[in-house]
Amino acid sequence: RILILDFGSQVTQLIARRVRESGVYCEIWPFASDEARIAAYRPRGIILSGSPASVHDPDAPHIPDIVFALNVPVLGICYGQQAMCQQLGGLVETHEHREFGRAFIEIAEDCALFRGAWSRGHREQVWMSHGDRVTKLPPGFRAVAWSEGAPNAIIADEGRRLYGVQFHPEVVHTPHGGALLRNFTHEVVGCAGTWTMAGFRDMEIERIRAQVGPGRVICGLSGGVDSSVAAKLIHEAIGDQLICIFVDPGILRAGEAEEVVRTFRGRFNIHLVHRDASDLFLGALAGITDPEVKRKTIGRLFVEVFEEEAAKLGGAQFLAQGTLYPDVIESVSFTGGPSVTIKSHHNVGGLPERMKMQLVEPLRELFKDEVRALGRELDIPESIVGRHPFPGPGLAIRIPGAVDREKLDLLRKVDAIYLEEIRNAGLYDAIWQAFAVLLPVRTVGVMGDGRTYDQACALRAVTSTDGMTADVFPFDFGFLNRVASRIVNEVRGINRVTYDITSKPPGTIEWE
Ligand code: XMP
Repeated sequence: RILILDFGSQVTQLIARRVRESGVYCEIWPFASDEARIAAYRPRGIILSGSPASVHDPDAPHIPDIVFALNVPVLGICYGQQAMCQQLGGLVETHEHREFGRAFIEIAEDCALFRGAWSRGHREQVWMSHGDRVTKLPPGFRAVAWSEGAPNAIIADEGRRLYGVQFHPEVVHTPHGGALLRNFTHEVVGCAGTWTMAGFRDMEIERIRAQVGPGRVICGLSGGVDSSVAAKLIHEAIGDQLICIFVDPGILRAGEAEEVVRTFRGRFNIHLVHRDASDLFLGALAGITDPEVKRKTIGRLFVEVFEEEAAKLGGAQFLAQGTLYPDVIESVSFTGGPSVTIKSHHNVGGLPERMKMQLVEPLRELFKDEVRALGRELDIPESIVGRHPFPGPGLAIRIPGAVDREKLDLLRKVDAIYLEEIRNAGLYDAIWQAFAVLLPVRTVGVMGDGRTYDQACALRAVTSTDGMTADVFPFDFGFLNRVASRIVNEVRGINRVTYDITSKPPGTIEWE
């Protein structure tokens, strides 16, 4: 396994994803991790990430000495390269010519890092983003590739198996960066590349059995990818010791509650408690217009109903959660300052302490796309595994203003047509999230010979990699036209359709 030490780069997670794509397991730890802990982890190779810091900053992050004492291959990326050089006796200078964006490197000498892929004289496109650069190599190192802005674009000390690259092989703008990282893990470190989802599943099943023993596990199912995959995996491990609780809050999309029950109870034969709590939720939501109050109300009810159902079952020692790796990584941040709460995302994080249960979190080492791959390995239908993210407060935050059953039904119809057209056009997987919003305005229209005075709706579709930023999906006009005309013709009560063209920032993905 490979250890990635994070120095605060925005793209450290991408390094981990590239390494895992090459079939090698890796973890991301903060650079300041305890040295003894690093040694005890016994990494076969170490990758040092980039950083927004400069090695000349007074409190510049330091590479732990243990990294070089372990005698394992090390690859420094950008800041990682610079810090390595400085600590091993080289020189790093701040150049007035900062280099950002696409650049070309030229291979000057052969090196294990790219053996078999690139040879002398080869030119390769890479992505640079640096102000500092290495100007004098530490003893033992040689430059094996150069670029106009970085004379030491790739450096190597093959005796000690230390390597450094000035550019970012982990980003897509370095088209063959994945191959370089693969060469590092496979050729230099000597990993076999056998870490696959099938292997992970088998290992995790053993781990769950060992943790749970004869105990009982309860798992909240939401219909989303993470809880679905967690539940199915745990079921493969311990069968009927698992009980799933599906709280239907009445604010899901058309057909979703039915699909959860059909799939998990009908097809997978999982012991599933289905609690239709729509009356309770909609009763509590009546008249509430403030988005944050909606979120808090829904979050509180989820916990209450879940606890109630768990108590009816006589309790359990374990609670399963679909926590993913990005929630677990300890982040390194140099931005400082207080962060502002834009929206309080609903989660059930308070549950385990309240219920005094131990957590079973079989996905806590996986990235989202790996969870999807695992879901496919577990034969979970594509309609669930490939599903767009859906917020906990559901359709309630897609109806600005007060929510009631009638509005929810109206929105479900609009949303279903929109998603059906997206699927038919083969666009579903190219979009991060697509949904309709029911607007709290009535507008005048004309249908046939009559005047209408009905509600308007908005359609939204965005692309994103993590939901933190998002771009508007560029539908062609014919598509939008077709969807709008179907909605107005088929959904009584809607007479106007708009398309939201706001990116994030400045907008958020949801309207509330
Ligand atoms: P925003 O609207 O903040 O959304 O740009 C970013 C991502 O988070 C989802 N989202 C939520 N998820 N509870 C959730 O579980 C929430 O309260 C919530 N609000 C937004 C949103 O759908 C998008 O994927």
